[in-house]
Amino acid sequence: MALLCCAVLLLRVFDSALATVVVDIDYGGYPLLVNRLLGEPSVMSLQGRMDAAWFRATNPQACPQQCDCPIHWPTALYCDHRGLAETPDRLPDRTQYLFLQGNNISSLSSSFLTNITALRWLILDHNQLQDLVSLQNQTQLSYFFANHNHLRSVPSTLPTGLKQLRLAHNRIRSISPGAFQNLHNLTLLLLQGNRLQIITEGDLKGLFRLNLLDLGGNLFSAVPRHLPPSVQQLYMSNNTLSGLGEDSFRGLLNLKYLRLSRCGLQSSDVHQQVFNFSSLVELDLSYNRLQTIPTVPTTLQYLYLEANEIQEFNVSSFCSEWGPLSYSRMKILRLEGNKMSYQQLPSDWVFCLRVLESIYI
Ligand SMILES: *[C@@H]1O[C@H](CO)[C@@H](O)[C@H](O)[C@H]1NC(C)=O
Ligand SMILES: *[C@@H]1O[C@H](CO)[C@@H](O)[C@H](O)[C@H]1NC(C)=O
Ligand SMILES: *[C@@H]1O[C@H](CO)[C@@H](O)[C@H](O)[C@H]1NC(C)=O
Ligand SMILES: *[C@@H]1O[C@H](CO)[C@@H](O)[C@H](O)[C@H]1NC(C)=O
Ligand SMILES: *[C@@H]1O[C@H](CO)[C@@H](O)[C@H](O)[C@H]1NC(C)=O
Ligand SMILES: *[C@@H]1O[C@H](CO)[C@@H](O)[C@H](O)[C@H]1NC(C)=O
Ligand SMILES: *[C@@H]1O[C@H](CO)[C@@H](O)[C@H](O)[C@H]1NC(C)=O
Repeated sequence: MALLCCAVLLLRVFDSALATVVVDIDYGGYPLLVNRLLGEPSVMSLQGRMDAAWFRATNPQACPQQCDCPIHWPTALYCDHRGLAETPDRLPDRTQYLFLQGNNISSLSSSFLTNITALRWLILDHNQLQDLVSLQNQTQLSYFFANHNHLRSVPSTLPTGLKQLRLAHNRIRSISPGAFQNLHNLTLLLLQGNRLQIITEGDLKGLFRLNLLDLGGNLFSAVPRHLPPSVQQLYMSNNTLSGLGEDSFRGLLNLKYLRLSRCGLQSSDVHQQVFNFSSLVELDLSYNRLQTIPTVPTTLQYLYLEANEIQEFNVSSFCSEWGPLSYSRMKILRLEGNKMSYQQLPSDWVFCLRVLESIYI
């Protein structure tokens, strides 16, 4: 939700002529933002738009038999959803956008990109890959997606110019030491739906610009200690966390969006002040086993607590005091599916939750 809202915001700011969100395909659950200024291709599939045979016959440049090479986008190569067991031979060296998702590719030949030097996007979602080849020579590569494969680790040979790395829904248990140490431009890292248990000190070192980190659906029992301080969106839903200490998010001074839905959290294991830090804008604690509302900062605008075991509503969770400038900025508060009713709201709640737009109870 956070990302969608930012994408919409971005559209408004930069005008829809320049950026397009492509939402029709999964890409690890987050839409792909297309930058038309950079000449990025706006169509993800040519199906139904053009006759492939005609296309190949009239295309002046060589095009692999298994792919479509659009005339209007000579730098894009569509080899997706064709049941390919291997990557096509002799990829045109002009290729900058390579779509190989939805095939049956179980390994990559180390030479498959030998003649390509300008690759910007490499999309390998929904294949059977267990390992990757070194992509270090692809100095222009900025988006690399291999969601829904069988990868077992994050390789250490990633190109340093990467901006997005999407490896959701694999079998990743570990991150190779130093894998990210030179990836200073990476802003988005998807690792949800893997088998990670811990992140050690060096694992994410070097990710100075990381904004969104999705670690949902892994085997974490605690919030990892060594996360990059630049992170604004941290998603850890669907991990069975044993609890949250006062300092669980210490050092994450830019954290705005935090998702901890379905983490088995109980109030007795959650420090009352753990979420009381002023950068926080959105907090998702739905589908846990909380009995009380934790203290949240007055800056918080969205709080999701639905499907917990909350029995009481104490205004002190939102405001330690109230006055002309001290009140909660909460806009949306979801409390449905708990053990309390609207009648239980104390009469003074309106003085604190002054700008509330919706409350679900
Ligand atoms: C790279 O280009 C050379 C020369 O054109 C060609 O012989 C070779 O097969 C190409 N390799 C690949 C992997 O496409
Ligand atoms: C995918 O490849 C495996 C062998 O690697 C093969 O057994 C299977 O039939 C292939 N599936 C499809 C849909 O082609
Ligand atoms: C990367 O480039 C170097 C130098 O051109 C070359 O020796 C090496 O084989 C390349 N590695 C891969 C994986 O293509
Ligand atoms: C990172 O981004 C900056 C600014 O866009 C660029 O100048 C720099 O070359 C990039 N770094 C790498 C390793 O590509
Ligand atoms: C968490 O699990 C639920 C139920 O299995 C699923 O619907 C949801 O997509 C998962 N979310 C994440 C972020 O893994
Ligand atoms: C609300 O919480 C405060 C601080 O924890 C406590 O002192 C107060 O008694 C509580 N009020 C109610 C009505 O439970
Ligand atoms: C939350 O933290 C702020 C700043 O540290 C503090 O002033 C405030 O009293 C805390 N809120 C509660 C309810 O304890």
